[in-house]
Amino acid sequence: MHLAKALTILLLAKCAIIAGKDENKTFEATNEWREIKEGQEIPAGLHVRINFQTKKKEAKLYEPEKDDHKHIALSNVVENEAKTKHKEAAKPAPKISKTLSEALKSLPKERLSIDYSPEQLEQIKRDFKTYSELKKSFSELKDKFKTDAELITQLLDEYKNLSKEHEISLKPQTKLATKLRILEDLDYLVHQIDNALWFIDEGGLEKILLPLVVNETNIDLRIKAVRVLGAVTLNNPKAQIKAFELNFGSHLTQILVSSTATEELSATLYALGSLLRKFPLALQKILSTSGTQALTTVLAKECELKVKAKAITLISDIIVEKNLVLSNYSDSDNPLAAAQYADLNISEWLQSNAFCETVDRLISTNLYELLDQPDSAEYFVIGLESSEKICKSVWSTSPQLRHTLLTIKNRYMHSQNEFRIEVAQMIERLIEVLYSSKSHEEL
Ligand SMILES: *[C@@H]1O[C@H](CO)[C@@H](O)[C@H](O)[C@H]1NC(C)=O
Ligand SMILES: *[C@@H]1O[C@H](CO)[C@@H](O)[C@H](O)[C@H]1NC(C)=O
Ligand SMILES: *[C@@H]1O[C@H](CO)[C@@H](O)[C@H](O)[C@H]1NC(C)=O
Ligand SMILES: *[C@@H]1O[C@H](CO)[C@@H](O)[C@H](O)[C@H]1NC(C)=O
Ligand SMILES: *[C@@H]1O[C@H](CO)[C@@H](O)[C@H](O)[C@H]1NC(C)=O
Repeated sequence: MHLAKALTILLLAKCAIIAGKDENKTFEATNEWREIKEGQEIPAGLHVRINFQTKKKEAKLYEPEKDDHKHIALSNVVENEAKTKHKEAAKPAPKISKTLSEALKSLPKERLSIDYSPEQLEQIKRDFKTYSELKKSFSELKDKFKTDAELITQLLDEYKNLSKEHEISLKPQTKLATKLRILEDLDYLVHQIDNALWFIDEGGLEKILLPLVVNETNIDLRIKAVRVLGAVTLNNPKAQIKAFELNFGSHLTQILVSSTATEELSATLYALGSLLRKFPLALQKILSTSGTQALTTVLAKECELKVKAKAITLISDIIVEKNLVLSNYSDSDNPLAAAQYADLNISEWLQSNAFCETVDRLISTNLYELLDQPDSAEYFVIGLESSEKICKSVWSTSPQLRHTLLTIKNRYMHSQNEFRIEVAQMIERLIEVLYSSKSHEEL
């Protein structure tokens, strides 16, 4: 199956978004269930569950055959249904060894942390009691765990109940905390592809995420909803199509234009990347209209440099993805994919939105930040490399860009730090490509 092959190989394509270097921030999956610690991020493609006795979240590597027999009826129905119904959407089986590290990189670095007052904590504890009560009503089940599908349905019910008449008595604070907790739980659950499809079939995109992303005024809720959207659509073609049909793409680009909050911009870039990746129709529709402009706006606005690094990385990933498909899938191999990607006029979109000039100005005016942040510097250098052919005429005639790159290169080259030296070498190669016709170097 050509499409499956294309997707599998593309999964290996470089699609890094800034990742945490701090190892313990990321959950290390094994074949055994392990607890997910507070604040840890989980890679995509894992099996996640909530242990109702300890109230802890646990995860392990996804092993379809081994897990199947443990699942009770509903879960199997869901899985089988998903398998038959979405066969054409050809989600490649999770490639743990190769894609795990890529998946890690594509997760946003920060986690939202919320401080609860003592009263809120009390309420949250009370909320959890309803869980144990619900658990009792399922006591006929041998397994002490609910299936993921049941959990998702229950979380959606609970969310819907919050807006019902009889819940109006709840304090707004309590409501907010409960909504955030529900979204947090969903965020863990929908990393599993079948769970994400179940969430969609149950109307989670329309009923919960869309109103939050479009109309919610509380920024914490909006950010959480955008994160869940990113998790639902990550490497999940059917979910990407559904989210695209619901016009999430243009809602996300609007957030990119209007927001200046680091966490919101980061989450939105993550969700937009998940939505667009390996989905040429969405790339065409969204980037040819508001998308490219929104991404360029992020590069030019007042916000943290690491957010801009994510924006340029998203653009760079798309360019790399296109080149990869075109170089490896010629007309005879996968004519449809090749034709769709050939139609993406990324150069035109970037040039007509002054991307090259914006990046020139951005780098030239952020010398000190870039000297301080080798991580960000690396992402910018990769972004420059990927778009070098598109922007060469602008960048090769920019003395300030050349000066900034040379300064960073020299400073990094003389540091004792291996990573900085590596970045310096990348910059050296880039300078050669951009300015090779001018042979003399400053310094
Ligand atoms: C990371 O976790 C390991 C064991 O899980 C521990 O020994 C180590 O000290 C941790 N490192 C940090 C930076 O917390
Ligand atoms: C939602 O409310 C209904 C009653 O309106 C109740 O029966 C149900 O248990 C509630 N569900 C959750 C998950 O709280
Ligand atoms: C957002 O709010 C407007 C005005 O109240 C409403 O018409 C629209 O349907 C809402 N959109 C969503 C997705 O809830
Ligand atoms: C194309 O695929 C081959 C393996 O099939 C791989 O070695 C090569 O690197 C790919 N081309 C690009 C541009 O990545
Ligand atoms: C991309 O746009 C440019 C400028 O409008 C045009 O010259 C070029 O033919 C277009 N390329 C494709 C592949 O559509």
